[in-house]
Amino acid sequence: MTILGFSAELKPQEKRCAVLPVNVKAYKLLGATVHVQTGIGKHIHVSDEEYAAAGAEIVASRSELLANADIVPSLHKLSTDDLRHLKLNALIVSYLDPFNEKGFVESLCDKNITSISMEMIPRISRCQKMDALSSQASLAGYVMVMKAVNQLDSVLPMMMTPAGTLKPSKVFVIGAGVAGLQAIATAKRLGASVTAFDTRSVVAEQVQSLGAKFLDIDLGQTGETGQGYAQALTPEQMQIQQREQAKCIADSDIVITTAQLFGRKPPMLIDAQTIASMKPGSVIVDMAAESGGNVQGSVASEVVIQSGVSIIGTGNWANGVAKHATQMYANNLHSLISEFWSLEDNKFILDFEDEVQSGCIITHQGLVTNSMINAFYASNPDQTNQGAKA
Ligand code: NAI
Repeated sequence: MTILGFSAELKPQEKRCAVLPVNVKAYKLLGATVHVQTGIGKHIHVSDEEYAAAGAEIVASRSELLANADIVPSLHKLSTDDLRHLKLNALIVSYLDPFNEKGFVESLCDKNITSISMEMIPRISRCQKMDALSSQASLAGYVMVMKAVNQLDSVLPMMMTPAGTLKPSKVFVIGAGVAGLQAIATAKRLGASVTAFDTRSVVAEQVQSLGAKFLDIDLGQTGETGQGYAQALTPEQMQIQQREQAKCIADSDIVITTAQLFGRKPPMLIDAQTIASMKPGSVIVDMAAESGGNVQGSVASEVVIQSGVSIIGTGNWANGVAKHATQMYANNLHSLISEFWSLEDNKFILDFEDEVQSGCIITHQGLVTNSMINAFYASNPDQTNQGAKA
């Protein structure tokens, strides 16, 4: 019998969780036993009774839940204190931020815990259903537009009324990956005039297919990794980008920055001088504010005003639509667990030969088994905030 133990999230303000009643039913169909901590769904208005009706056992004590579980799936990583309650050889599955959390990863090794990092699931077709970075980034794109709209003192669509004609607001999205494309689509639906830029020129077509303009900046050679991530620009290319996008930024009512570099600090794209060139009352949303920022002066978890421009750095964007975010994250987790579940043995089968597992398992039997993380730790022995997204 395999017990899945879902603990409530500890992070302050976090509303999401890692399981919904519909997932409980699906895990039961696999043959698993499901325990959930009391109150796990309270922030998204799902009661203990609903989890129980789906077949889960409700456990009041967190330490008891952790001590009995063979697999502990969660959204954020468990606390270090939680680790001491886990069974020897338990499997934990959550965001782990292994690039930045070397100390925590070492604790996992000390306790012989097998761990899967949701951020490290390979970006390949087979994994799309498990890809939490994409599901949460897509919702983040939507939420960032909503936050910007609430801060702006104008409407987005053109309005022709007897009281006068209102011009559509201009939105500029920098970085057109998963979050950026959703931000573009959302702003377009609301009637804004949208322009976007990304260093990966392959994205231009996707931007245009959403009805937005692609800002053409000639940066020379830019590349992407095998997994589709952008490669870092040279300092000269950064300068060209900043110079060429400055006019578009000055003209925009809303600028949304979503530029990230996998496993590295996000690039700084908008300086104070460019912010000062914007119209007072304009709004910038810096998606990366929590991990270093794309915008000079953005502050993690805050909205600050600089030169009359609001800079939103709230972060944890998907939490703004916590119910849908939970639905997507919980489905990602279920897809991952069921992919490697043996109905015959009634358990999750570890397989280091499998490219998905070797990509996302970080620790096993006291060792860091992940080659990318091992290489990163070896080249960054003092490993301090190199930046990685979650
Ligand atoms: P991300 O979060 O790492 O980066 C966001 C965007 O920022 C990227 O489009 C990147 O090119 C851009 N960027 C980086 N530096 C920039 C700069 N200086 N200026 C402007 N933009 C900059 O990327 P995300 O959204 O997680 O995905 C990136 C790509 O990964 C996707 O577009 C896709 O090609 C691939 N992918 C593949 C999946 C699959 O299953 N096959 C699933 C999800 C993504």
